[in-house]
Amino acid sequence: MKTFNVAVVGATGMVGQRFITLLENHPWFHVKALAASARSAGKTYEEAVGNRWAMKTPIPEDIKKITVLDATADVKKIASSVDFIFCAVDMKKDEIRALEETYAKAECPVISNNSAHRGTEDVPMIIPEINADHAQVIEAQRKRLGTKRGFIAVKSNCSLQSYVPALHPLMKYGVKNALACTYQAISGAGKTFETFPDIIDNVIPFIGGEEEKSEQEPLKIWGELKDGKIVPSSAPAITTQCIRVPVSDGHLAAVFMSFENKPTVEEIKKCWKEFKGEPQDLKLPSAPKQFLNYFEEDNRPQTKLDRNLENGMAVSIGRLREDSQYDYKFVCLSHNTLRGAAGGAVLMAELLAAKGYLD
Ligand SMILES: NC(=O)c1ccc[n+]([C@@H]2O[C@H](COP(=O)([O-])OP(=O)(O)OC[C@H]3O[C@@H](n4cnc5c(N)ncnc54)[C@H](OP(=O)(O)O)[C@@H]3O)[C@@H](O)[C@H]2O)c1
Repeated sequence: MKTFNVAVVGATGMVGQRFITLLENHPWFHVKALAASARSAGKTYEEAVGNRWAMKTPIPEDIKKITVLDATADVKKIASSVDFIFCAVDMKKDEIRALEETYAKAECPVISNNSAHRGTEDVPMIIPEINADHAQVIEAQRKRLGTKRGFIAVKSNCSLQSYVPALHPLMKYGVKNALACTYQAISGAGKTFETFPDIIDNVIPFIGGEEEKSEQEPLKIWGELKDGKIVPSSAPAITTQCIRVPVSDGHLAAVFMSFENKPTVEEIKKCWKEFKGEPQDLKLPSAPKQFLNYFEEDNRPQTKLDRNLENGMAVSIGRLREDSQYDYKFVCLSHNTLRGAAGGAVLMAELLAAKGYLD
């Protein structure tokens, strides 16, 4: 595989920091440029991040001294010096939409963690094991944007990264209804316990916009490609409640589901065990070997114990049992800033690179 120079836009943030650590020693992608707001521009990365560095490993030496660019003012400079960008910025939705289109129109593909373009019909929202084929819509998007290389591809919201993969291999039984309550970590809000003391000894029953995303985005992921657009699926009916809990990393979900043709417990576990997608077939560098992992122990998965399974790229599942109102219930977990954000975006970029979309 050829190698690619990349920029991280939003490099000083929680997701941006994850990108920096994941791309250290990446076999295909090399960080060449970093960008953030005008507040950080002109400073070295080390100065710009200051005491916000929240990763367990130190800032890589070759990254510390890179001068941070302005994500908006320096688009031309950034687009001309890298093959594509990873983007995770905290800005208004319309500003992000415009910023990502500006990069794409400058012929610089955008692999985005932001929600701004998730609803755009010709922007693929890819979980690589599930809907790798949605990448084909990029051709239609390039036509609309008038670009040869430039396009935008997005990652879905971190809240659904455990239950959508768990439900996916069961779709052949006709999943009719799904209910998920998510117990979400504070890094999902870009926070640590130091910067979010109100969460200690507390549970906050509201995460703005999260339930809408958790209910609607799965339908696009399970959607169909038609006439240069992704048409969302009309089923299953999904309802969610998203709750912030005092956990550093890892979103856990308690899920209930009903089927058109109810499978047995053994059939469900077999589907999870045998499930694999293109990342496993293509042996992509960040792909987990076993994506869906079922724990037989009653008290697993646990956020702290299991979030880092397969470098935080696998999904852990447990407690599958019959329910009195739905057919079954279970619990599942995924790491929100790894599989749910930066790791999922790196895997999507690997998939798009392997398929030639980043050439
Ligand atoms: N955290 C998660 O688990 C997670 C998961 C999925 C998706 N996301 C999405 O990823 C994005 C970033 O989230 P985060 O948690 O990393 O946020 P964060 O920690 O608050 O970081 C925000 C980043 O955006 C930059 N920024 C802020 N205003 C800007 C501007 N006007 N122009 C350019 N850059 C600007 C910041 O730069 P400065 O340091 O210069 O201010 C910083 O690099 C959001 O859209 C979020 O919804 C997050």
